Amino acid sequence: MLVLGIETTCDETAAAVVERGTDGRGRILSNVVLSQIGEHAAFGGVVPEIAARAHVEAIDAVIAEAVQQAGCTMESLSGIAAAAGPGLIGGVIVGLTTAKSIALVTGKPLIAVNHLEAHALTARLTDHTPFPYCLFLASGGHTQILAVRGVGDYVRLGTTMDDAIGEAFDKTAKLLGLGYPGGPQVEQEAKAGNPARFALPRPMQHRKEADFSLSGLKTALRLEAEAIAPLSNEDVADLCASFQQAVVDVVYDRLRAGLKLFRESCGAPAALVAAGGVAANQAIRAILQKLAGEAGIALVLPPYAYLRDGVLVFKPMWLYWRRGLIGGGMQVFSYGVALWAMTLAPIALVAASREASVLFGTLIAIAVLREPLRSARVAGALLVVAGLMLIRLQ
Ligand code: KG4
Ligand code: ZN
Repeated sequence: MLVLGIETTCDETAAAVVERGTDGRGRILSNVVLSQIGEHAAFGGVVPEIAARAHVEAIDAVIAEAVQQAGCTMESLSGIAAAAGPGLIGGVIVGLTTAKSIALVTGKPLIAVNHLEAHALTARLTDHTPFPYCLFLASGGHTQILAVRGVGDYVRLGTTMDDAIGEAFDKTAKLLGLGYPGGPQVEQEAKAGNPARFALPRPMQHRKEADFSLSGLKTALRLEAEAIAPLSNEDVADLCASFQQAVVDVVYDRLRAGLKLFRESCGAPAALVAAGGVAANQAIRAILQKLAGEAGIALVLPPYAYLRDGVLVFKPMWLYWRRGLIGGGMQVFSYGVALWAMTLAPIALVAASREASVLFGTLIAIAVLREPLRSARVAGALLVVAGLMLIRLQ
């Protein structure tokens, strides 16, 4: 059984083909993600209208790529799934309408998927995690601790009363003049900072229920920043480190409460599963590792490649280039120039210097091997082989 999945709830246009084997296990045959970071960066956050229009421009190419990579055809699909919310309404409409159209034309069933439920069940696909497990979902819009007992059988053990964790990272970044998306920037700054310099609160600590509250922490950070303005680079790094440490402590404390509630209401969890962009944060990953170790349960972290947009930056270019949609903004254009300059450079350099071409060839071979899009990998590998043949011919 093959299902095409479409995701357009926020700032990524994504399509994947998933196969269900005869053993009942799912397998991801393709997963194409087109990030819109370049389009929103100048505004310091996701602009819903720009997001919706960018989805419209890219969705058909993303779907075509996903189907091609999976080696199947529209006719061979058993159904079309799309994230039907929660999410930015303009984007959701684009993905859902596209899915409805494909379902109508091909006569296949349409499956509307709840965005959060998809997060909750992803570990089943990627790691075949058995039920019941404890899910820690931390994204830009949601922070939840869920008991996942089966498909459609979830108990919400904790949620945020105000800001989501990713949102708190993004707002902190904005306050400190760092770019979007904020989480990775705050994490980067925190590496060089002193986490003990500012005494920030750990909201909800030691409460029995497993809820979060982050707006007080955010306000405390703002007051500290205002008190020492103008900020030096060191101040920014220390503020980021102190903020991140406070979040890490909160996550540890709240998840301990969540796991206790889990045991009381659902028995022993098979694993602690993390989902959402915040799970890319190394300090948060480390504390989840510690927590799972102390609780004596397995930790399932989503594959790193699915969380990092940076690695995927060449994907949009590949798609845009193939479709001749270079007009999609200077940022996209510069990625394209960089990509093609990189791939053509070794061939051009063969004529100039053998050493330089070997160096460039090696760099590109590394880039190609790290590229998650299969067609780009194949094309890149062919270019490297062509370059090596030219060197031999010299
Ligand atoms: O799950 P996600 O990609 O999108 C949704 O919100 O659905 O999560 C994005 C959020 C953003 O708020 C971003 O700042 C945060 O995840 N994030 C991080 C890191 N990478 C992404 N937060 C902290 N540290 C990171 N390394
Ligand atoms: Zn999400």
